[in-house]
This record gives sequence, structure tokens and C-alpha cells, in this order.
Amino acid sequence: MFFQNKKCKPWKKKDYVLSVLQFAIHAIVLVGLFALTVLMNVGGNGFIDYVTGSETFLNCIYAAVVVFVLCAIIYLYYFCEFRDYLTRAKNIAVLFIVIELSFMVCMAMGRFYSIFARPAALCALLILLLVNYRTAVFTNVIFNIMLLCADLFCGSNFSSTLILGQFITGIATGQLAVYLVNNVSSRIKVFGMGFIISFPISLLAFIFSYKPGIKLMQVLEVIAAGFTSGILSVVIMMAVLPLFEYVFNILTNYRLAEITDHKSKLISKLIQEAPGTFQHSLVVSTLAETCATAIGENPVLARAAAYYHDMGKLKQPKYFTENQHGYNPHDELSPELSMQIIRSHTIDGSELIKKYHLPLILADVAREHHGTLPIQYFYNKALKFTEGDLNIKDYSYIGPKPSTKIAAIIMLADGCEAAVRAQNDRSRERVEKVVTAIVDDRLKLDQFSDCEITMREIDIIKNTLEDSLSGVYHERINYPKMKDKRINEFDSSQKSK
Ligand SMILES: [Fe+2]
Ligand SMILES: [Fe+2]
Repeated sequence: MFFQNKKCKPWKKKDYVLSVLQFAIHAIVLVGLFALTVLMNVGGNGFIDYVTGSETFLNCIYAAVVVFVLCAIIYLYYFCEFRDYLTRAKNIAVLFIVIELSFMVCMAMGRFYSIFARPAALCALLILLLVNYRTAVFTNVIFNIMLLCADLFCGSNFSSTLILGQFITGIATGQLAVYLVNNVSSRIKVFGMGFIISFPISLLAFIFSYKPGIKLMQVLEVIAAGFTSGILSVVIMMAVLPLFEYVFNILTNYRLAEITDHKSKLISKLIQEAPGTFQHSLVVSTLAETCATAIGENPVLARAAAYYHDMGKLKQPKYFTENQHGYNPHDELSPELSMQIIRSHTIDGSELIKKYHLPLILADVAREHHGTLPIQYFYNKALKFTEGDLNIKDYSYIGPKPSTKIAAIIMLADGCEAAVRAQNDRSRERVEKVVTAIVDDRLKLDQFSDCEITMREIDIIKNTLEDSLSGVYHERINYPKMKDKRINEFDSSQKSK
């Protein structure tokens, strides 16, 4: 759910080799788990007979081939859809640990309780929360094919009707669970969804277990198995999710709720030491949340990114306008030194976020939210001392430019909030003019060339910001608008890089 699709960098030979190697290793682990399933089904004594038996030996070969084919399909899917996901070893590890864990739990439940009691939605739910919706839908199908093959080739005693019934039930409930849990941010509601998906599982389990003369007790057992499946899927998911969040530093809605709590370490520090920056971040968070919703990005992530985007100001809060009360320490500094203090807040913020073991996407946004924009105020101030002989690149943020849509949203919401807050006239017309000027500035300065945001999405964000910002602010701060001549100068210097 939180994997941010960045603009793909060209792959080197090393990337291909490493990613294929990791898939091959996990395919071997899965073959091992299939062997463990055989051991579980036929027992220690029958294991050697099963593996070396003239007929059952072929089953083992089929199982191994199926595992490698399914792993190849998963690889191709990620390679085509989320190539950058494959460049991090930890992402591949997360994907396969989820599959392996879900596989073992399902096999054990099927062997020791009932085939319909398997938590078949577990894999899809974990992938939904740890990766994203589309991948969860895809992985659910592959995972259920894996279970089907394990039932067919690993010495299970289930009838073909039950195996087929469980395959259909598994796919259907996985898809339903992913649909229902997507965008649910409260843990209690997720438990509720587990209860809801138990009904169709029970119904399907009953249909596939039905035989003439079935007794009431048997019907109740099948229904109990269906409810075990639904509830166990969400219970195990909620139990292991914090482990994935902590061990692999992955963001989920639940973790976001924790880190945007005003009592969390860095936010309470911001409230105490830089209250002006905190207020600014609050307004940006509301704007970013609305913009993210408008273009189909994750609003909870946008909100968290806004809360943390200016954390770097904690290093020297008094040097930032929103935390000053009459006294401006920049009056005693050279423009160059002032510029360096202002410029460093992006890097300081990124390092602080990493130091507190917060999600890397927040550190990226903190570092990218000013892109390579010029620090116009101190550039203008410095020009007065240098008779115009000054390179604007030396008075610009060092970047990088936004690499995700969330970072682009924060850049625009941040810039527009500051600019509108600085206006005396906050009529709708004025707000529209200011927002248009800010968006045009960022576009002219080529700030969105490293992320996959479209012009249509930028337009939607612009309209959303105009609607949200109209008539909100009451302060009077002069905002230095960039002169067109300087914009052009900066623009050409960027292009000549
Ligand atoms: Fe900033
Ligand atoms: Fe800001």
C-alpha cells in the first residue's frame, strides 16, 4: 500500500543478476516448504517412500517445477509493474516471507484441523498492507495456485472436490478481504472485516462439502471452519504486521497513525521547540491530505509527510520566520551564511528522520520538498553586495527534486501555503493568482522532471489548493516573488547542466 512508484532508473547488469538470484533462493526455500508439507502429510516413515516411489516421485518433480514457474511469474509481474521494488533486497524478502509464512500456516491448518479453516486471505491482506492493492490481488491468485499444487502433489488425503472447493474459496475470499480492508485505517474495523469475510467462506465451504444425508453436526463443523479461516486471517495478520513494520521499517496506516500522534517523539519536540513550524506543518498536512485524495494518492501518507517535512528546522528554529517574534537573527549574518542555514534544513530533516528510525519515505520527502529551487530572498540580498555577479545555483537548494507524487504534493502545498499566508488580500481571485504563480514557478524551474506526476494531476492539485486556501490566513508577511528575469536565468542554468 505504501510502495511509492518512483521514476524507474535504468537497470544495470548487477540489478538483473541480484534480483533473479534472490527469486531463485526463495524458490528453493519454497521447494523446501513443499517437502515439509509432504513430511507433514505422510509422516517421517513414509517420506522417503513418497520421494522415491515410482508414481509419487513424479509428484515431487511437478511440485518443484510449479514452484519455479510461479516464482518466475511473480518476478515477471514485478519486473513489468514495479521494477524499482525489485532493486531492494528487503522488498523481495518481505514478499516471500509473507508467502512462505502464509503457506506454512495454511498447510498446518489444513492438515491438523480442516481444509476450509486455512487462513487463505492472510497472504493477500499482508501484501495489501505491506505493498499495495494491485499486487495483493495478483499475489492472492498465485498463492492459491501454490496451495492447490501443494494439495495435489504433496500427499494430502483431501478429495478433488474439496481441493477445488478450497482453491475457489481461497481466491474469492482473498479478493473480497483485499477489497474490504483497503483504506480501512482502524484495527477494530479490520477485525470486523475478518468477521464479514467468514460468511462467504462458510457458505462456499458448505456448498463444496455438501453431500446427501449430511448431518447437522457436520454442517456446524464446516461453518466453524469457515469462521476460523476468516477470523484467523485477520488475527495472524494483525499479530505479524508490527514485526514487518519494525524489522523492515515499512509504513502502514497503523504505523502512520502512531507517528503522526502529537505525543510521538519528534512531533512533541517540534511542538515545544519550533511551535511556528508545527503550526505551518499542520496547515500543510491538511492541504496535502486533500490534494492526495484528489489525485488518488494515499492521504494518510501525505499527511505524515507534511508533519515531518520541515523537521530539519529543529536544529536552529529561530532562524525561520514562523518561529521569530520580532527579533530576526539573520539581520546579523551575511546573506551567504543565512542561505546556508536555510538550505541545510532539508538535509538536517532527512538525517533526523533516519536517526529516529522513521520510514525512509518521510526522510526522502524532507530532503526533496524544496527540490533545486532558489532561495530568492537571500539571493536578492546578496546581489546588492556583489553588483549582480552571482550564480543563482549557489543560492539554491541542493535537491534532489521530488521523486514521488507525495513529495511533489508537499512541495506545492508548502509553497502555496507560505505564499498565501504572506498576502494582505486573501480574496478568491488573489489566492488563485498566487497559487498559479507558485505552480508556474515550480514548472518553469523543472521541479517535477524526476517524478511521474502528470500535468493533469498538477492541475488538479492547483485547483484543490485554490479551493482550500481561499480566505484562510490572517498574518501579514511579505513574500518575495521571483522576478521573471531571474527565473529565466535559473532555468537556462539548470538546462545547461
Ligand atoms: Fe522547508
Ligand atoms: Fe514547509
